[in-house]
Amino acid sequence: MSNQDSRPIILTGDRPTGQLHLGHFVGSLRSRVGLQDSHHQHLLLADAQAFTDNADNFEKVRRNIIEVATDYLAVGIDPTKTTICVQSSLPALNELTMLYLNFVSVARLERNPTIKAEIQLRGFERDIPAGFLCYPIAQAADITAFKATVVPVGEDQIPMIEQTNEMVRRINRQIGHDLIPECKALLSNMSRLPGFDGKAKMSKSLGNTIVLDATDKDIKKAVNAMYTDPNHLRVEDPGQVEGNIVFTYLDAFDPNKDEVAELKEHYRRGGLGDGTVKKRLETVLKELIEPIRERRIELAKDPDYIMDILRTGTEKCRDITQQTLDEVKTGLGVFHF
Ligand code: TRP
Repeated sequence: MSNQDSRPIILTGDRPTGQLHLGHFVGSLRSRVGLQDSHHQHLLLADAQAFTDNADNFEKVRRNIIEVATDYLAVGIDPTKTTICVQSSLPALNELTMLYLNFVSVARLERNPTIKAEIQLRGFERDIPAGFLCYPIAQAADITAFKATVVPVGEDQIPMIEQTNEMVRRINRQIGHDLIPECKALLSNMSRLPGFDGKAKMSKSLGNTIVLDATDKDIKKAVNAMYTDPNHLRVEDPGQVEGNIVFTYLDAFDPNKDEVAELKEHYRRGGLGDGTVKKRLETVLKELIEPIRERRIELAKDPDYIMDILRTGTEKCRDITQQTLDEVKTGLGVFHF
């Protein structure tokens, strides 16, 4: 495996189905920027996985590959440190998936809690696309093709990691030695940011996102719409911090933790108005988003640059994944001419 340095290998990725937002920033992007120095990091634009529930909209997925890649670069993913690649252009992943399909039962796939929840959410109960049911197998191919040992993901992806490791154990047993390493999920310390409307999750389909190129006006509007403590009617009333979205966001984004702690104290005591706290959050979010938005605007002027990064990254990953496929085929005793 072409891991000349001793840093652990990371593979993680996103389905390119929409622009990324602050939920992604808190849940994954921010930590990836830090991990690219300590780890050998690869980011997979999982378009083939996105097709499994977007077979009526290939164009949307194609367009969002560029959007998400732009988001990566705008937040500080450095393509000289992190390899960014496009899943559908890595044929070895498909070949590995074909082999891995034989190491999982349909019943096990149907028991995967994330798949179960997603089937319900998408109304697939009566008519599950085979590709959808099998995407955990393809995801195991993604992870193992890179021999990744660290997979930074959200909590909802833990069943995928468990299922991957089950497959890895079976395949290694069949091969007779530990060709493929098991992997570990790396959860970020804040894996889920609520939507600005207070709903449990920030998500495009719920219409409660703040995108990474939000304008000052968008930010103001979102912060003003934020849910606070409904019993905190007058400024002098004591207020509740728990479940108060404005404080949740301050915890997530305000770099000055001591001042946030003081604000919380003051709010609990009474005498601190929602308007003041919101104003602070608005400033914090504007300062966070402005440079990302500016970089995004610059990047959008040069689409060839983005395409170049994707092409170079994908070519590099084509070699890595092909090498693993060759090893797996040899291990299993498959002819490869
Ligand atoms: N399933 C992941 C998600 O929906 C995306 C993904 C695809 C992924 N392949 C992966 C994540 C490999 C980690 C590793 O977010």
